[in-house]
Amino acid sequence: MSGPNTNYDPVEVAALEPAAVQAAVDAALAAIAAASSLDELKAARTAHQGEKSPLALANREIGALPPSAKAEAGKRVGQARGRVGQALAARQAELEAERDERILVEERVDVTVPALRRRLGARHPIELVAQRLVDSFVGMGWEVAEGPELEAEWLNFDALNLGPDHPARQMQDTFFLDPVDSGLVLRTHTSPVQIRTMLEKEPPIYIVAPGKVFRTDDLDATHTPVFHQIECLAVDKGLTMAHLRGAIDAFVQIMFGEGTRTRVRASYFPFTEPSMETDFVCFACHGSGSTTPGSAAQCRTCGGSGWIELGGSGMVNRKVLAACGIDPDVYSGFAFGLGIERALMLRHGVQGMHEMVEGDVRFSQQFGMEV
Ligand code: DAH
Repeated sequence: MSGPNTNYDPVEVAALEPAAVQAAVDAALAAIAAASSLDELKAARTAHQGEKSPLALANREIGALPPSAKAEAGKRVGQARGRVGQALAARQAELEAERDERILVEERVDVTVPALRRRLGARHPIELVAQRLVDSFVGMGWEVAEGPELEAEWLNFDALNLGPDHPARQMQDTFFLDPVDSGLVLRTHTSPVQIRTMLEKEPPIYIVAPGKVFRTDDLDATHTPVFHQIECLAVDKGLTMAHLRGAIDAFVQIMFGEGTRTRVRASYFPFTEPSMETDFVCFACHGSGSTTPGSAAQCRTCGGSGWIELGGSGMVNRKVLAACGIDPDVYSGFAFGLGIERALMLRHGVQGMHEMVEGDVRFSQQFGMEV
């Protein structure tokens, strides 16, 4: 059994020599002072305070010393380790303070810089009005129907009893597709959706069809080559003009407010017979035709007539029903359609069509930015 080393020879335990301990301390202090970052200090800590550092190795040697030598060597190594520990802690504190200061500078937030605001998009007022009308009709049990914007000429015209000689077919109104005999047009109204629906479905039919339509008009205060219509069609047994009036009244009240009265005038459309033009009482002068009750100045909204033209309507022409395979002796139908832009201009006093098509968000903002 080996006992304590009674013949202690300090030369044999070189690591514990004062000079060696001092050298280890000097090396440690130099490395600590030279560490210019927390990572470098971490490496210095491992090298000079870690398990394999000279001072840790020296400390382990103490156990092998004779009791008489232990105290002195222990004190020396303990003090040395204490100094290294202190130096590490001090440098650590210094480097941490430097880092915190750097972060404060680098990550400084200038609260006075104007914020980058991301504006939320919103639906265009034309879309909002169309949606409001569609929703109300859906609420009454009607269905939404849609058709393509690129439409068969036959559905856009012929099936609606607009014969080949009808003026609406002339080149100046209609965008035809190349080649001219392709049989395709950009639909000039939403009425072909009526035909598509009647060809597809058996009565009873109650549909509302909003959508884009196209005509070869130049953009000016009251015209635009692309605009929107909304169309209603009902086909059922026993439908009469009284039902048509009721549906139009519902429509007008949603659009222009409760209690808005309507009137109908005889008109002509090839796809309805009889056909009517619908007017509603002017919401600005309430039908008086003057700016203020009793005044001679004419109301600017309706031009003094007290009424505003809404759109076309009528009982679906028997020929149209028959072309769609619906027996006109059993079923009758009514339809009406109107331009949304015009309704919006009237309702909100929009000055010109440009405002509606230019996409300036300041225009849309006035209608409330509904998403
Ligand atoms: N399609 C017609 C137009 O664009 C409007 C119209 C008139 C639609 C009478 C109808 C209707 O449904 O019955 O001028």
